[in-house]
Amino acid sequence: MSKPEAIYRQDYQPSDYLIHTTELSFELFENETLVTAKVHYYQNPKVKNPPNSLFLNGKNLELIEILIDGFQPDYQLKNDGLQLKNLPADFVLEITTKIHPETNTSLNGLYKTSGNFCTQCEAHGFRQITYYLDRPDVLSVFTTRITADFKRYPILLSNGNLLENQPGTATWFDPHPKPCYLFALVAGDLAVLQDTFTTKSGAEVALKIYVEKHNISKTKFAMESLKRAFAWDERRFGLEYDLEIYMIVAVDDFNMGAMENKGLNIFNSKYVLANPDTATDSDFINIEAVIGHEYFHNWTGNRVTCQDWFQLSLKEGLTVFRDQEFTSDLHARSIKRITDVKALRTLQFAEDSGPMAHPVRPESYIEMNNFYTMTVYEKGAEVVRMIHTLLGEAGFQRGLKLYFQRYDGQAVTIDDFVEAMSEANNFDFADFMAWYSTSGTPQIRIKNSANKITISQPDERLFPLKYGVLDCEGSELESGVLIMKGKQKQFDFSHLPADCRFSWLRDFSAPVKLKP
Ligand code: BES
Ligand code: ZN
Repeated sequence: MSKPEAIYRQDYQPSDYLIHTTELSFELFENETLVTAKVHYYQNPKVKNPPNSLFLNGKNLELIEILIDGFQPDYQLKNDGLQLKNLPADFVLEITTKIHPETNTSLNGLYKTSGNFCTQCEAHGFRQITYYLDRPDVLSVFTTRITADFKRYPILLSNGNLLENQPGTATWFDPHPKPCYLFALVAGDLAVLQDTFTTKSGAEVALKIYVEKHNISKTKFAMESLKRAFAWDERRFGLEYDLEIYMIVAVDDFNMGAMENKGLNIFNSKYVLANPDTATDSDFINIEAVIGHEYFHNWTGNRVTCQDWFQLSLKEGLTVFRDQEFTSDLHARSIKRITDVKALRTLQFAEDSGPMAHPVRPESYIEMNNFYTMTVYEKGAEVVRMIHTLLGEAGFQRGLKLYFQRYDGQAVTIDDFVEAMSEANNFDFADFMAWYSTSGTPQIRIKNSANKITISQPDERLFPLKYGVLDCEGSELESGVLIMKGKQKQFDFSHLPADCRFSWLRDFSAPVKLKP
C-alpha cells in the first residue's frame, strides 16, 4: 500500500486539457457493465505551453478498448488512472471500460441498491465509471445512452432532457455544461409520482419522483415540498429552473442525505418518504429542507460550481444558508434559528475546538470525503449569513446577481463570491476573510462602563454584532447592528439611561463565544 498523499490548495493548477463534449454509452448486464465514453478534448487556451500528455483519473476499471481519433494511442496504465502521451492539441478519445456495479459496495460510482442501478459521483466517484478528468473545474455537456433488459429495468434515467426512449434504451442530453461529479444514472423498476411546475417565464417543467413500487403512497409530501422550493427560489432569489424535467429518485443504500445531480437528484429514501400517519412534524420539515437544499444547488453549485474541492463551502455553505431561509420563510423563523444555532454550538463548536478543527476553506486534504463537515456546511452557512447581515437583503441579492452574471457556467472560488458581494455593494471584506481561513471559535469580550461599550476579540476580524437595549421594564429603547473590527473597538451609548440593559448577539449574528 502506498502512503496516501495530501493535496494542497496552493498547488491548484488549471487543467492542461478541457472537454467540449462527453458522450457516454452504458450497457447494463447482470454480471458486468460496459461503459463507452467518447470525449472531445482540447488544449486549455489559458495554459501557456501545455504539455502534450494528459493524466486521466480511473479506479477499479478494466480497460477494454482505447482509441484516439480512431487510432491506438500511446498510453500507460497506472493504478489510479491512465497516462496519455504524444497528444494532438485537439482530439476525440474513445474508451470502453468494464465495471462491476453488481459487486460494488463502496456507494460510489455505479452500484446497485435494492436491485436497481444508481450512481454517486461527488466528490470522486466518476473515476470508478470511466477514465476522465475527475475534477470540478472541467465542465462539459453530456449525452448519455443507456441500454438494459427492459423487463428488469424499464426506467432508464440520466441528466438533462430525454432525447429518445424505446423499450430497453434511452438517450438523455444535458445542455448545461457540468463537471462529472454532477453526472447521474438510474436504471430500475420504479414507480413514479408525476406533477408539473410552470416557471414565472412560462416554461412547463415535468416533476417526477421515482421510488420502489411499495412506497409510492408516501411521496405526496415530497412533491408538494419540491413545488414549494421551485416557487420560493423564484420569489426570494429570482432564480428559475432550466430544464424540461426535474427528477428525484429515492434509494435505500446511500451514503449521505441526498445529492444534487443535474436534473436527477438521488435521495436517501428517508428524506423522501413520509407516512402521513406516523411521520412527525420534524420529519416533514426535514424532508422539505433536504428537497429544497438539493433543488437550490441547481444555481448555487451546478450553474456556478467549485473550482476545486477546497471551495466546497462555496456551494454547501451558501446552499445551507438558502435552505435555512427557505424553512424560515415558510415556517417559524425563530424556531428554525434556535434549532440551527443549538446544533452549531454543540456540534460545530466542538469540532472547531478539537483535533479535527479546520477552516471553512481547508488548506489541504488527504481524503476529500472526510471534509463534508459541520464546519464547511454549518459554519460556512453562518459566514454567508454574516455577509447577509452586513449587506442587508437587498445588498445580498445585488451581490448574488453580479455573481451569477459573472460566473454562470463556470467553476469559481470563495474569493470570487466575496468579490462579487463586495463590488456590488462597495463594501470592503478584506478583514472578513479570516472567517474562511482560520479555524476555531473566537471568544469576544464586552465591557460596559457607564454605557461606554468596549468590545475586544483575539484577532482582527470584521463581523456584525446585533444588539438591542431595554429599559428596566423590558421595553426596547434601541436596536441595531454594530460592525466589529480590529482587536478592540469602542461604541458610545451614553445617550441611554444609566439603568438600561443590553442584549448582545441577537439572532446569533456571528459564530462566536461571548465571554461574560
Ligand atoms: N452534495 C451533497 C451530498 C454529498 C456530499 C454527496 C458529499 C456525496 C459526497 C448534498 O448537497 C448535501 O449537502 N446533502 C446533505 C443534506 C443537506 C440538507 C445539508 C446530506 O446529504 O447530508
Ligand atoms: Zn449540499
